[in-house]
Amino acid sequence: MILVTGGAGFIGGNFVLDWLANPKAEGIINLDKLTYAGNLATLASLEKDSRHIFVHGDIGDRGLVGDLLEKYQPRAIVNFAAESHVDRSIHGPADFVQTNVLGTFNLLESARAYWSQLPAEQKADFRFLHVSTDEVYGSLKAEDPPFSETNPYEPNSPYSASKAASDHLVRAWFHTYGLPVLTTNCSNNYGPYHFPEKLIPLVILNALNGKPLPIYGDGQQIRDWLYVSDHCSAIRRVLEKGKIGETYNVGGWNEKANLDVVKTICSVLDSLKPRADAQSYAEQITFVTDRPGHDRRYAIDARKIERDLQWKPQETFDTGIRKTVQWYLNNPVWVEGVVSGSYREWLQKHYQ
Ligand code: NAD
Ligand code: DAU
Repeated sequence: MILVTGGAGFIGGNFVLDWLANPKAEGIINLDKLTYAGNLATLASLEKDSRHIFVHGDIGDRGLVGDLLEKYQPRAIVNFAAESHVDRSIHGPADFVQTNVLGTFNLLESARAYWSQLPAEQKADFRFLHVSTDEVYGSLKAEDPPFSETNPYEPNSPYSASKAASDHLVRAWFHTYGLPVLTTNCSNNYGPYHFPEKLIPLVILNALNGKPLPIYGDGQQIRDWLYVSDHCSAIRRVLEKGKIGETYNVGGWNEKANLDVVKTICSVLDSLKPRADAQSYAEQITFVTDRPGHDRRYAIDARKIERDLQWKPQETFDTGIRKTVQWYLNNPVWVEGVVSGSYREWLQKHYQ
C-alpha cells in the first residue's frame, strides 16, 4: 500500500485515478479532510475498487495517522494535502499555516515514528514524497533564467510562504533524522477535476455561463503550465527512482501570459461550443483589480528530472488545453456538484 494525503483534491485525485488505472498497482489509503477543495465525486469511479481505501481526516491528527500507518504498513507517503489557493491565503492565511506548516510537521513526526521502528529492509525502502510548488522561489524578471533546484527560496504570498516552510521542515527531517524524503516543486497544473476557483476552470465555466472572464491587472503575468497527468507521472517517477534527500523541479516548458491563456480558452470554446450570438467568448474578457503582491513570472527548468530520471511531459499546452475544455463540456454533473453555496460565497466575496 501507499498512503496518499489530499487525494480528493485536484492533483491528488488525478494521481489516485491514474495510479489505480494500472491493474497491477498497489492499493492506496487516501486520507483527506474534505475541505471545500476536496470532492469525493472525483473518486466516484473507484467506489467498487477494493484497492482504494478512503479515510476522512486531517494530516495533523497524529493519533489517526499513527493508527493508519500501523494498520496498513504503507511503503510510502505521498503528501498532496494542503490549502492551495493564493487568493484565499490573502483573505485568510491562518488555515494555510495550520495545514501546510503544522499539518506537514505533524505528518512528518507520524512518519518518523512509524519509519524508525520498521525492520531494516522496509526501513530502507520507505519514502516520504512531499508535493510542493515553484512559488517557493518567488518571482522572476523577464530576462531571468527559469527556476532551478538551487534557486534561493523567496516566497511572496502567505500560500507560498507556508509551502516554503513545509519544504524546509521536510528537508530538515532528512538531514537531522535521516527520514527518506523526496520533494517535488511543480509549476501550474491544469486539467480535469480542477476546482473552479483557479484561473483555467474559472474562465471555462464563466465563459459558458455568460459571465465576465476576470483578468488581474494587465494580464501579462507569466505562468508555466503543466497538464495534470504529466505531473502525476513525474511524481510516480520520483517515487520510483528519485534519490532520497533530493528535490526535483517539474514543469512543462510552457510559459504563457495569463491574457494569452484566456484568449486560447476562448478560441477553443469558440470552435467546440460557439456562443449563440456567434460572437467570440473573448468579448467577455474583463480587466479587474490586481492580486496584492502578484508574482510576475514563474518558469521551471526541468532539466534535472529529465536528465536524472528520464521524465518528460507528454502534453503540449495546445493538446492539454483542448482536452481540458472538452472535459468540462462533458462533465456538467461534476461541475454542478462542486459549485456549492460556499463556492458562490467565495466568488461574491472575492470578485465583487
Ligand atoms: P487542492 O486544493 O485541489 O486539494 C487539496 C486537497 O487537500 C483537498 O482534497 C483537501 O480536502 C485536502 N486537505 C486540505 N487540508 C487537509 C488536511 N489538513 N488534511 C487532509 N487533507 C487536507 O490542491 P491541488 O491543486 O490538488 O494541490 C495539491 C498539492 O500540490 C498541494 O500541496 C499544492 O501546494 C501542490 N501544487 C499544486 C499546483 C497546482 O497548480 N494546483 C502546482 C504545484 C504544486
Ligand atoms: O505555480 C504553482 C501554483 O499554481 C500552485 O502552487 C498553486 O496551488 C496553484 O493555485 C497555482 O497558483 P496561481 O496563483 O498561479 O494560480 P491561479 O489559477 O490562482 O492563477 C493563475 C494566474 O491567473 C495568476 O497569475 C493569477 C491570475 N488570475 C487568477 C484568477 C483566479 C487572474 O488573472 N484572474 C483570476 O480570476
